Amino acid sequence: MRYIRLGRYGPRVSVIGIGLWQFGQKAWGKLRSTPREIVHAAIENGITLYDTAEIYGNGLSERILGEVLRVEKVPRDEVIIASKLAGFNASDKERALKSLRASLTRLGLDYIDLYQIHWPPPLWCNLCSVLRGLEEAIEKGLIKYIGLSNFDVKDIEKARKCLKKHEIVSLQFQYNLAYRGPEKELLPYLKREGIGALAWSPLAKGALTGEVKERNFARLGDPVYKRASRDASLQTVLKKIAINHDSTPAQIALAWLIAKGAVPIPGARKVSHVISNARAAEIVLNESEIRLLDEVSAKYTQSYRGFSPLGRNVPCAIQRLILRILGI
Ligand SMILES: NC(=O)c1ccc[n+]([C@@H]2O[C@H](COP(=O)([O-])OP(=O)(O)OC[C@H]3O[C@@H](n4cnc5c(N)ncnc54)[C@H](OP(=O)(O)O)[C@@H]3O)[C@@H](O)[C@H]2O)c1
Repeated sequence: MRYIRLGRYGPRVSVIGIGLWQFGQKAWGKLRSTPREIVHAAIENGITLYDTAEIYGNGLSERILGEVLRVEKVPRDEVIIASKLAGFNASDKERALKSLRASLTRLGLDYIDLYQIHWPPPLWCNLCSVLRGLEEAIEKGLIKYIGLSNFDVKDIEKARKCLKKHEIVSLQFQYNLAYRGPEKELLPYLKREGIGALAWSPLAKGALTGEVKERNFARLGDPVYKRASRDASLQTVLKKIAINHDSTPAQIALAWLIAKGAVPIPGARKVSHVISNARAAEIVLNESEIRLLDEVSAKYTQSYRGFSPLGRNVPCAIQRLILRILGI
């Protein structure tokens, strides 16, 4: 495994993390290995960054992660735990801090390393009061770093202006070979400003692995999954480069993201995927391989818009209700 600092101000993390949306088990279906086996494999293979969220399985992902960290007796300072405050709970400071305390309880931890706002709250919410609340949480030792997710440059700038003492250390956003919109404006901005980049859906929900995947709720409404699954020329290039490195298309898709300066956080429901993903950290693509991948995926460089699962005009209470009913 290799390790880097997350942006200019963040913690040191493995160049590949692990996403734990899959522990929520609603959108993805049953796990194929036990959570303990999955986390154990991640630790054994040098992964230090664990990404969860309060909404994954309505808190189940956080609860499971906390249990496993305790059972496995993982030293607290050897892992970076990242969780997320739902956009519908980022409406005001009190609600945000209540969510943070609930996440800490579910995780059974004294502090969360990286606390991210999952998506921008509705337009009329007082995001500044939330961010100042998170600064207070840093002062009280409840979190170490503040991150954002699914914000665009304009909203990141607004958020940064709210902070008095601390920095936004990272942005988590959708980024993979079939979704390259972030490269136009967002990635150069993050690099320039020293904000770390965390890539979600780095394998386009499994479509970039060359394997036929089952239909589930997570994949159902994702156009990026659909187009990546159908893109024979992209799949062929991935396979060809994988042969050069005695590796797999999934590992090449992850190595490409690392080459672009992002930290991928692939999700996994079984141990063999965790091990394979961790090993992608050892692959260094050469310039002509990167060029080939860039060329075959050039059609996916349309612009990046921040992302909110239900849009910015849906009130928090309605967002909360819809996401609870749909269950992610
Ligand atoms: N901030 C946000 O809004 C946001 C949104 C989405 C996700 N995320 C985070 O990002 C993480 C990853 O994104 P994601 O889960 O959407 O998509 P992903 O990581 O692109 O895809 C994960 C799926 O790909 C398959 N897979 C993983 N490794 C594989 C391997 N080595 N070989 C073959 N197949 C493999 C597995 O599918 P099967 O299990 O079906 O085999 C796995 O469940 C999530 O867990 C979550 O933490 C954040």
